[in-house]
Amino acid sequence: MSGTPTSVSVREEICIEATPKTCGVVIFGGSGDLAHRKLLPSLFSLQKRGLLPESTYICGCLSYGDDQTTDEEYQNKVRHDLSEKFTDASGEEIETFVGRLSYSPGAFDETRTYTGLAEKLKTLDSKFGLDGQYVFYLAVPPTIFPAIISKMAETGLTKSNNHPGNPRVVIEKPFGHSPESARKLSRMVRAVLDEEQIYRIDHYLGKETVQNILMLRFANSIFEPLWNNAHIDHVQITTAEAIGVEHRAGYYDGAGCLRDMFQNHMLQMLALTAMEPPAAFEADLYRDEKVKLLRAIRPFPSNPEELAKLVVRGQYGDSPGVDGYRGETGVGEDSNTETFVAMKLMVDNWRWAGVPFYLRSGKRLRRRVSEIVITFKRLPHSIFPPVTPEMLSPNVLVLNVQPEEGISLGIEAKRPGPKTCMGTLTMHFDYRRVFGVEPPEAYERLLLDCMLGDQSLFVRTDGLTAAWDLLAPVLNVWGDSREAPEKYPAGSWGPECADRLLWADSRYWREP
Ligand code: BG6
Repeated sequence: MSGTPTSVSVREEICIEATPKTCGVVIFGGSGDLAHRKLLPSLFSLQKRGLLPESTYICGCLSYGDDQTTDEEYQNKVRHDLSEKFTDASGEEIETFVGRLSYSPGAFDETRTYTGLAEKLKTLDSKFGLDGQYVFYLAVPPTIFPAIISKMAETGLTKSNNHPGNPRVVIEKPFGHSPESARKLSRMVRAVLDEEQIYRIDHYLGKETVQNILMLRFANSIFEPLWNNAHIDHVQITTAEAIGVEHRAGYYDGAGCLRDMFQNHMLQMLALTAMEPPAAFEADLYRDEKVKLLRAIRPFPSNPEELAKLVVRGQYGDSPGVDGYRGETGVGEDSNTETFVAMKLMVDNWRWAGVPFYLRSGKRLRRRVSEIVITFKRLPHSIFPPVTPEMLSPNVLVLNVQPEEGISLGIEAKRPGPKTCMGTLTMHFDYRRVFGVEPPEAYERLLLDCMLGDQSLFVRTDGLTAAWDLLAPVLNVWGDSREAPEKYPAGSWGPECADRLLWADSRYWREP
């Protein structure tokens, strides 16, 4: 059974998106994969929605290797990409966007690349009538980003000359490889940038359905009174991907699933699900609460046997027609990098004492799905004999982050038939059906917020450190271990050790 709302009333006055002040957007790694797949299309979508002021320009800059790209070549490439991707866009829209584009070539480790860029920005500022307000987006491999920040500082690009606010710098993950390297990197970044200038991206925070966790919790009065250990039995967070490592082995084999998905996306989703309400939805108040929550998570033990009861890992093996992880291009035959992780976390505070949070994520799983599942406690007593509380399903609230964005609530209800005939009914809100549109790309939200100077959806230095510190014992034990992760077949829900983690608590993973 399912029920779907057919209309939604919106409060128009708070649904008007603010248009940012005009600025120059500089994309380091401007001809790279992220720029072409996500950033430029998102900026184009913002323009289509009337949210990119006329005099905003975009300057691509340095890529890996020998980079001689000219303005014209860059414009031609982007024109071609956008025409393919946005088949509904008019030629005029595309040309307006292309008119904003230019390119400043150079190698990332040469000072003249940055002095050249500074000169180019001056020319662009006078052409577009700007006063030197910039957003620098570092869409580059993590290995070169410290060098870029240093060179930017050395050539004066991190401070503003004419504009009252300093430039904003967007940094892509991964930020660090370990707690120590993340701290070192943070120190280095903080030495040249103020916290107000740093926009650390976690693209999950830009997803509409992830933002909706806060609205569901704090804009409704019916959930919050139940959102605690008196009513919630446990929480599961799953982010499953059907794809394998693809062409990213160079990065992924040195990172693994724990660093790639847990240090950021998974812990951020947990923090939003479990944090206390901030006094207001303001960047620092909101980020304070997330950090408090991360710090309330019970530290993992450093003893390998004890740790194995709480965190397990897997690696996809060979399956019919699909190469196992070790057979992927760029992965060593004996690689022990995990492509799947499942863990049990306890949050040691008044609200959550005794409620386990189970998190799992992996590649080459049955299908692509991200969801947060809140399972409420069973009835204390049934007034419907012979039906016992165990015979009734607990209420389950599912926040579908993707791909079928929405919210479902399972409730027990009478079915046609004898008096006590009951079954589980699912009330379902489907984002596309209700709003009639696809949820926007997360990068649109994040780029817009950065141009607006709103840091709410970006990760602050203390939040980053708290997440790394939590995972430190796991990284240490796995780093020292020679044991291979447990194999799982492609298209499954992961290794059996993940099931055993929940069986030990007499629970099981919900099949999405
Ligand atoms: C990235 C990870 O941060 O998130 C990738 O590096 C992963 O390994 C991706 O595939 C998943 O993002 P999404 O938005 O497709 O769920």
